[in-house]
Amino acid sequence: LMSCYRCAIMEIETKFRVLNERFSLQHDRNPIDSIQSRLKSPDSILDKMLRKKLPFTLEAIENNIFDIAGIRVVCSFVDDIYMLADCLLQQDDITLIERKDYIKNPKKNGYRSLHLIIEVPIFLQNTKKLVYVEVQFRTIAMDFWASLEHKLQYKKNIPESQAKFLKDELYDCAQQSAALDKRMQNIRNVIAESETKEEEKQDFLPIFLRENKG
Ligand code: GTP
Ligand code: MG
Repeated sequence: LMSCYRCAIMEIETKFRVLNERFSLQHDRNPIDSIQSRLKSPDSILDKMLRKKLPFTLEAIENNIFDIAGIRVVCSFVDDIYMLADCLLQQDDITLIERKDYIKNPKKNGYRSLHLIIEVPIFLQNTKKLVYVEVQFRTIAMDFWASLEHKLQYKKNIPESQAKFLKDELYDCAQQSAALDKRMQNIRNVIAESETKEEEKQDFLPIFLRENKG
């Protein structure tokens, strides 16, 4: 079963690499900064089964735990997150199971990311198997925030007054990082607009006079 989830990760990672390659060919930039993937450990699977009061069967795992295969796609810009999610969901072998948009609706603590649970077929020796994968899309700023916040979740011996301070600080950082994402996106949009205008101007010139003939 774990091998099937590993195959599903390979499948989805490849899809993102292909999207990145095609986008960079067309637009001369990479929408994806990095891709991380992880397989849920047997211990965490067991924890989740206990929490969800599931029977200890492979069937129960396969049908109820959707995040055994996890992929995180980190982008520079928020618009690229939605563009990549749409491109993935348009592919005819992908089924959307659940979508949680914590960018449009951040969590109470300030957490932002776009989460998709999808189902993807993997082709084995002589069978096809449908496998669930959790995909998290984040900007670099969202990822930076979430990894720091995640560290804090594991610190159990912080005095209460300090814990309150850190929680408020993190919430404030989340607001600032969201504002930064917006400003960076705006700058990018202005640059893209001026590039488009430049290209339109060039289109009027005979080919041998254009700046970028390639
Ligand atoms: P799980 O039982 O953890 O799967 O919760 P869920 O099914 O309600 O899923 P949700 O989409 O809310 O979160 C799934 C994953 O997103 C988590 O395992 C984390 O990797 C990440 N995540 C969600 N909320 C937070 C958060 O507040 N902080 C951080 N650092 N990560 C989060
Ligand atoms: Mg989950």
